[in-house]
Amino acid sequence: MSVSRREVLVGASLLALSAVAPLRGYAQSSGAALPVPPVLDATENGAIELTAVAGTTAFVPGAPSPTLGFGQAYLGPVVRLRSGSTVSAAVSNDTDRDVSVHWHGLLVAGDADGGPHQPIAPGATWRPTLTVDQPAATLWYHTHIHESTADGVYAGLAGVLIVDDGLDAERGLPTAFGRDDLVLVIQDKRFDAAGRAVYEPTLADALHGFLGDTILVNGAIGATAAVPAGIVRLRLLNACNARNFTLAFADGRAFHVIAGDQGYLPAPVAAEAVKIAPGERVEILVDFAAGDAVLMSAPHDEGVGAAGMAHAMGGMPMQEDPMAGPFPVLAFAVDAAAPVAIRSVPDKLLGAEPLAAPGEPSVTRDIVLNDMGMLVAPVEPGGHHMGAMAGMNMAPPAVEDSVAAVRFGINGQPFSMERIDHETALGSVERWIVGGEMMGHPFHVHGARFKVLTVAGEPPRPEAGGWKDTVFVTGRVELLVHFRHPAAAAAPFMFHCHVLEHEDRGMMGQFTVA
Ligand code: C2O
Ligand code: CU
Ligand code: CU
Repeated sequence: MSVSRREVLVGASLLALSAVAPLRGYAQSSGAALPVPPVLDATENGAIELTAVAGTTAFVPGAPSPTLGFGQAYLGPVVRLRSGSTVSAAVSNDTDRDVSVHWHGLLVAGDADGGPHQPIAPGATWRPTLTVDQPAATLWYHTHIHESTADGVYAGLAGVLIVDDGLDAERGLPTAFGRDDLVLVIQDKRFDAAGRAVYEPTLADALHGFLGDTILVNGAIGATAAVPAGIVRLRLLNACNARNFTLAFADGRAFHVIAGDQGYLPAPVAAEAVKIAPGERVEILVDFAAGDAVLMSAPHDEGVGAAGMAHAMGGMPMQEDPMAGPFPVLAFAVDAAAPVAIRSVPDKLLGAEPLAAPGEPSVTRDIVLNDMGMLVAPVEPGGHHMGAMAGMNMAPPAVEDSVAAVRFGINGQPFSMERIDHETALGSVERWIVGGEMMGHPFHVHGARFKVLTVAGEPPRPEAGGWKDTVFVTGRVELLVHFRHPAAAAAPFMFHCHVLEHEDRGMMGQFTVA
């Protein structure tokens, strides 16, 4: 199996940094054990109950931050569903704000999707039936209230969802959850001088997405994962509001990519680095027979320079990434006493869905992710103001309102709950050509899965080579999207940028499938 030249370069450049630049945020080694999230297993009884609650979390010892979670103060349990089953869910809201639970990547009908049309009011319970009609995959769930997804996810309303087909032992994959099968929810946060997590986006954050100064994995800063001296499966979720990662081990060790957003690749693919954008999942097998390791990330690289330049020319602030150098994400320490179940990587991944085109595309859609400037008035009636939105006639925002005035859109229009952007035929395949303005954008589609044909004219990287639901758009990305689940106008599917500051400010659309 070959490793691309680019991957070797990324791995080598991280390797060269044995002395890692210190972070401006919190220390990356607390010595604490990596938290293993609790499991909510519906594979036996076909039912799950989740309750959104408010609490406090001391990410930094002695400095509690107000947080939200599902059944716990921060984040939620790992929900495990059986592929092919029907699950009754009950989602309650014990917080004082509207929440929703969108099952990101779960291919269910629009009325069970949990998007912005299915808010759960404080004190209410939402009871969708989930028909789990897809192969094994690592998905996630999170709140999705219009204009309030970014602060809700940042506060902790998110968790991992595993679709399990019961065949992992037969595949030769590790199956001991929390020991050799690890869920890693990767996030970043910004902390104030007292050590409390803050979410106060500046104008630069509104424009480029909010970047933290400290990395958390499963809600912990600087934790260490204890692993056996053999093959370990890592289910990586990028649950950041806006940060991209290029992940590689500090010692340059190769690993194998086994799955992307929507499940297994046909066979493990050797790699030395993987890219993961907000909303995406990548699963890898790592051999810890080679000893302790540190998972590192290269900085948020793609498209940011162009965005900064364009914004600077328009008089907008540039964004400074507080973690601009390679930085550690998670340390792994081999526990020699831990039993080793798997010592070699399987040659094939049993039952991977073929990536055969499910038919010829019936429609081609051009989707442009737009930066729409600021919501400001024309300079004089009928005149034009730089960055003004057509048809708007509001007073120019005061400086402190400028964050709220930033607008994004798709194909020239900011999101509207009242407008259906297009209608798609149930069972059809469509070719979507997605392009982004100003910077790269992680583009996500609800209720459907897609195959990535090209990214900026090139074939996708291995981790983006299987069925997906989220893809990082740099230049033009060509997708073949397959629509097998219905969505009516009362509960349509969303398509949007997964930089949550962009989504909340209008970089989202909605469609029906019938
Ligand atoms: Cu993960 Cu519409 O979102
Ligand atoms: Cu989604
Ligand atoms: Cu975006």
